[in-house]
Formats: sequence, structure tokens, C-alpha cells
Amino acid sequence: MAESGQPLVVVADVEKHYGDFHALKDVNLTVNKGEVVVVIGPSGSGKSTLCRTINRLETITSGTIAIDGEPLPAEGKALANLRAEVGMVFQSFNLFAHKTILENVTLGPIKVKKMSKADAEREAHTLLKRVGVDQQANKLPAQLSGGQQQRVAIARALAMNPKVMLFDEPTSALDPEMINEVLDVMVELAESGMTMIVVTHEMGFARKAANRVVFMADGRILEEATPEEFFTNPQTDRAKDFLSKLLTH
Ligand SMILES: Nc1ncnc2c1ncn2[C@@H]1O[C@H](COP(=O)(O)OP(=O)(O)O)[C@@H](O)[C@H]1O
Ligand SMILES: [Mg+2]
Repeated sequence: MAESGQPLVVVADVEKHYGDFHALKDVNLTVNKGEVVVVIGPSGSGKSTLCRTINRLETITSGTIAIDGEPLPAEGKALANLRAEVGMVFQSFNLFAHKTILENVTLGPIKVKKMSKADAEREAHTLLKRVGVDQQANKLPAQLSGGQQQRVAIARALAMNPKVMLFDEPTSALDPEMINEVLDVMVELAESGMTMIVVTHEMGFARKAANRVVFMADGRILEEATPEEFFTNPQTDRAKDFLSKLLTH
């Protein structure tokens, strides 16, 4: 297991094609244990593709991706284990609609980690308390607000005890008044030492929690800097243009 500050996610020379479309171009990114990296960039720049390749929801055309020193497995049991090590929270909440909140959080630990129901439920309640939705444990997802559902999605991912958490625009489908309750949970998670890769345009979160900002455009990483450097002094015209549009929303 990597020590704090050592490379945990290493993306090297990655190319990804969807048929003729070149979605990731020579992507190199190292995320150290305990680090929080915010990925930012225009729509279609490859941010989701990058997350999906790290979680092995998409294959890569060439290059390597390693998590904690282990190259991503192609399939089978090793892949299932890898998925357990990489927690993912998507824009849409993706909870199982016909299962209670508690069942949503205990399902993975019981099925994949072979945890006993009692242990899984105890841990689930702890996590649900941590994200502030334990009162809702016996409800169905549709009975919760979007912000509450997204916090459950975070608890569900954490229940697998992942080494790294990926967030793909976790607040962009939320009503504005619910954005902060989700970002607050993410900031708390960052402060707890979780390694995180977060696709978001929430600059407040980036400034508060990110060690680094990565700017992508057209499938490439164009800039990598501290939030302060990136937001106050972007280097490329693409980033300047992107930030000017973001600020004038
Ligand atoms: N499954 C797919 N098949 C073909 N093209 C795709 C697929 N997924 C994404 N793309 C294309 O790849 C590019 C990058 O998409 P994506 O990673 O979703 O960008 P972002 O998350 O930055 O908006 C887009 O042009 C998109 O249309
Ligand atoms: Mg996306």
C-alpha cells in the first residue's frame, strides 16, 4: 500500500480512441496518495473518459494505468477487486431505485467483500451519519432530495473502502441550493486524507480542497498547476478562454 505522498494512480502515455474519434491524447497524470486533483475543461474534452478509463469502465487503446503499483487488469476477478479499490460518484445519482438507502450502501460490502449483513449495516450507518443522511436509511432513493441522494452515493462508494475516489461532475445535476451540502462532504473527505480525482467546475471546491488543477481540452492535458496559479494565471489561450466563460456565468 502506497504511503502518503507516494504515487497511487499513475496514468502514463494513455491514448483512447472511440472508433475514429481520438478522445484521449498522450495523457500523463500521477496522483499521489492523499492528494486531491481537480480536472476541469470544456465539454467534450475527455474528462469523463479519463475517469472511466481509470475505473476500467472503458478500455484504453495504448499506454498504462496503474493503481497502487498494480496495472489495471483486463477482466475477471482482478477487475472486480480493482473496481472495489476505485470508488466512483457520477453526475446522476445511480442509486438502485428499488432498494432502501441502507441496502444501497450494504449491497457491495455484502456481495463483493463478503461482509456479514450485521457488519455491513453497522458500517453503513456510520457512513450515512458521516454524510448526514442516516435518518433516511430506510427510505427509497426517490424519497430523498438530489443532494441527499448524491451524499448516499458517496457513502455507498466509501463503503467499499476504496483507495481512491473519482467524482465526475457530482454536483452538476443538482439544484443550486443542494450543491454546497455535497461539496461540504467532499471537502471533509479531502481533509480526512482520501485520494480524490474530481471533475468539477466548482472553483470554490478547487480552491478549498485541491492540491492541483488539471486543465483538459481536446483530449489533452494542457495545464497542471495549483488552484491559485491556475485560476489567477492560466498559461494557455484555451484555459483563459474557458475561465472567462466560467466566470461570466
Ligand atoms: N462511448 C463513446 N463513443 C464515441 N464517442 C464518445 C463516447 N464517449 C465519449 N465520446 C466522445 O469523446 C469526447 C469526450 O467525451 P467525454 O469524456 O464525455 O468529455 P467530457 O466529460 O470532458 O465532457 C466527446 O467528443 C464525446 O462525444
Ligand atoms: Mg463529462
